[in-house]
Amino acid sequence: MKDIKSNLFVKNQVKIENFIQPFNQKISITSDKSLSIRCILLSSIAIGKSKIFNILESEDVLNALKIVRKIGVKFIKKKNFYEIYGVGINGFNIKKNLTLNAGNSGTLARCLPGLCSATRKNIKLIGDKSLSKRDFSRIIKPLSLFGVNIKSYNGLLPIKFLGSNFLRPINFFEDKGSAQVKTCIILSAINTPGITRIKALKSRDHTELLLKYLNYPITINKRENYDIIKLRGLNQFKSFNYHIPGDISSASFFIVLTLLSKNSELLIKDVNLNPSRLGILKILKQMNAKIMIINKQNYKGEFIGNIKIKSTSKFKSINCPAKLNSSAIDEFLLIFLVAAKSNGISSFSNLNELNKKESPRLDIAINFLRMIGIKVTRNKDNIKIYGNPKLKLCKSFHVKNFLKDHRIFMMSVIAALTFGGSWKINDKDSINTSFPNFLKIIKKLGGKIN
Ligand code: S3P
Repeated sequence: MKDIKSNLFVKNQVKIENFIQPFNQKISITSDKSLSIRCILLSSIAIGKSKIFNILESEDVLNALKIVRKIGVKFIKKKNFYEIYGVGINGFNIKKNLTLNAGNSGTLARCLPGLCSATRKNIKLIGDKSLSKRDFSRIIKPLSLFGVNIKSYNGLLPIKFLGSNFLRPINFFEDKGSAQVKTCIILSAINTPGITRIKALKSRDHTELLLKYLNYPITINKRENYDIIKLRGLNQFKSFNYHIPGDISSASFFIVLTLLSKNSELLIKDVNLNPSRLGILKILKQMNAKIMIINKQNYKGEFIGNIKIKSTSKFKSINCPAKLNSSAIDEFLLIFLVAAKSNGISSFSNLNELNKKESPRLDIAINFLRMIGIKVTRNKDNIKIYGNPKLKLCKSFHVKNFLKDHRIFMMSVIAALTFGGSWKINDKDSINTSFPNFLKIIKKLGGKIN
């Protein structure tokens, strides 16, 4: 039994022993996960048949499709799009109490109770080991104010909820800078008569932009540090067609791979360039990275374009402004790799939310950097990274026990291909949640992975 177990273990592990050789290529990147999930949720409450092209077929998104099917939404997978048959606001057809499994997806798990806030059946929401450690009190609070009967033990999964026919609009301050919480509230507001008002710290705004594109009665007033969002509930909206662009968070692995590789160039096509997601580009450019955006165009309220990257040999350290945190929240692991290779001490502050992700990413990143010989000091949620421009590894490393966090796995692969050393990295399957063809693209660029 022990042997079978250890075999399985190795099967899910990659080994990297060589630097990636110089490359000069064009790639397309996997579709945006946030937009894929939002298009599924919104098309399920639109009226009629939506066509969503280029949906990301990763586990998180497939779980969203499975869940909407369970609550009575039909969809058909065509060659390069999904037809989703929306049931209209408050139109879910649930015959009996249900258990819904969101797998690893925080976005799905936190948005779903908002989508179902008026659904009159008991729903139990569960998830995998990583999701079961994450905080749900952040959505329980606003949903309770709407009048949803929602319960959990200690703010963790499983949560049980029963929507209401008598929802009341709320006036809420979203103070975490969480797009998941904001979207949960917006979806619940759609089910609620009257005007809901949200003061929200800056976070990605795909939901608001989609609703604007759908002519939903929503106003967004952008202030320097927060947005004021007002929307009127119970306004039915028509089905729509949408083509999901590439995901900047997935592109970021290849942006940093190119920057840290020698004599390489990369063009990444059709990436979503929503300003609320561009923190990584702003931060890396301040650190001297050679990155250019070309052919930027507006698509249904979002920006899309190509990103051109060239290897950069000298990086400057950064005192990273905390106001950029939310727009780079999923990319800090990669930014830390660049800081490790830069000249000087980089500081990052208020990174509390980083420990609330699929794994405690701040803790894991600090251990990782120390493991590769980089000095890191920490004061609560603030860290300083002492860069070493000559960083070149020749020891063996084993990356394990990271709660199968896809971004830890992929960041480790980038470190291994650009810093050298001999690496074993566990939990290869973790990429299936967000970026199933990650290793294929690495191999296409010449990365040697066993
Ligand atoms: C997401 C929002 C972010 C991000 C996550 C996707 C979304 O989480 O980290 O990967 O699609 O709304 P928070 O809202 O918790 O910051």
